[in-house]
Amino acid sequence: MLYGTSAQAVCQQKTPHFHTYEIANHGTLWYSAVKQYEQGINTMKNLETEIKTIEAECLSELKKARSLESLESVRVSYLGRNGKVADLMSTLKKLSLEQKRTFGPVLNQFKQRLTLAYESRKDALEKKSTSPDALFDVTAYKPNQMHGSLHIYTQIIEQLSSIFISMGYTIADGPEMETEYYNFTTLNIPEDHPARDSHDTFWLSQPDRLLRTHTSSVQAHSMEENPAPLAIFAPGRCYRNEATDATHDFMFTQGEGLFIDKNVSMAQLLATAQTFLQQFFGSEKLKIRVRPGYFPFVEPGVEIDGSCPFCTDGCSVCKHTQWIELLGAGLVHPNVLRVNGIDPDQYSGFAFGFGIERLAMIKYGITDIRLFHSANIPFLKQFA
Ligand code: PHE
Repeated sequence: MLYGTSAQAVCQQKTPHFHTYEIANHGTLWYSAVKQYEQGINTMKNLETEIKTIEAECLSELKKARSLESLESVRVSYLGRNGKVADLMSTLKKLSLEQKRTFGPVLNQFKQRLTLAYESRKDALEKKSTSPDALFDVTAYKPNQMHGSLHIYTQIIEQLSSIFISMGYTIADGPEMETEYYNFTTLNIPEDHPARDSHDTFWLSQPDRLLRTHTSSVQAHSMEENPAPLAIFAPGRCYRNEATDATHDFMFTQGEGLFIDKNVSMAQLLATAQTFLQQFFGSEKLKIRVRPGYFPFVEPGVEIDGSCPFCTDGCSVCKHTQWIELLGAGLVHPNVLRVNGIDPDQYSGFAFGFGIERLAMIKYGITDIRLFHSANIPFLKQFA
């Protein structure tokens, strides 16, 4: 029960009739208590709505603050000494003890919520202002910096791939660790062929595993995965167990082309070789010449030379012959088609292969194949 001042005044009234006094006294007390309860309830209600409004305002302003400075002004206007929270707190003083007990914790929790929201916003803004993103100036230029660049391998493979893509080929891939089947058997390479000899092939300790000696191993993978007709270009790394010198390496890259369709002809193979070489060397004058060649997986097999893109009458690149040996190629041997489930009476095809470093060496005048994987910075910088 609350005792307000008016109730005390009524109690102190001197009246002659005890009975009347009782009624008057109780009536006034009751009325005054009702008023006080009403006032208490209203204060509570007002306070609740005020808390809600201020809280919503404050949270939205915190959210809007994009800098630590604007955040600070939000803090001052809500949580500062003369801020809206402090204002609300000061109304506590005017309340009765009982009201204080009720409103005190409500207001404190309110203040805590706003303080927490402010601190987490401050954290976020501080992180943002020190994060590498915020400090990164795209216009800044630092002299004497080393720049990364694509390796010459990657650049050449991208050039070649885009030429073949432009001719309708798909880029294919195969494993560098192969089985005898994909590297030799499926390519019509007989059991006793010297290429299977351990002098040429890196045999691995796992049974029947080797490092592929050429990208022709991708042929069978592609024919297994795709029905005819198909046109693939497969660039990739190969390995041969041989002594290295300026033009031979134990690890090198090859590009393999395979085209299978109905009525594929030698003329189509030669046109493809010429077009791709002209594109690669950037010379429409480049011509090709064909010599017989032997590869067990093609019949007939040919070696294709390109006219020297650098001279008309002999230079050091073509060793004064005006021709440079560039590709091994031929029409796909019927045995290769058959073993890969393609009927050689319906389909025919051509295949060609070349050393990617060799083409790059000719194009850029690189004199030692071993430079490619040497990680030699001055060498690599020339292609940056
Ligand atoms: N694989 C052969 C080599 O490594 C090149 C080649 C590919 C020849 C396709 C003919 C057809 O020498």
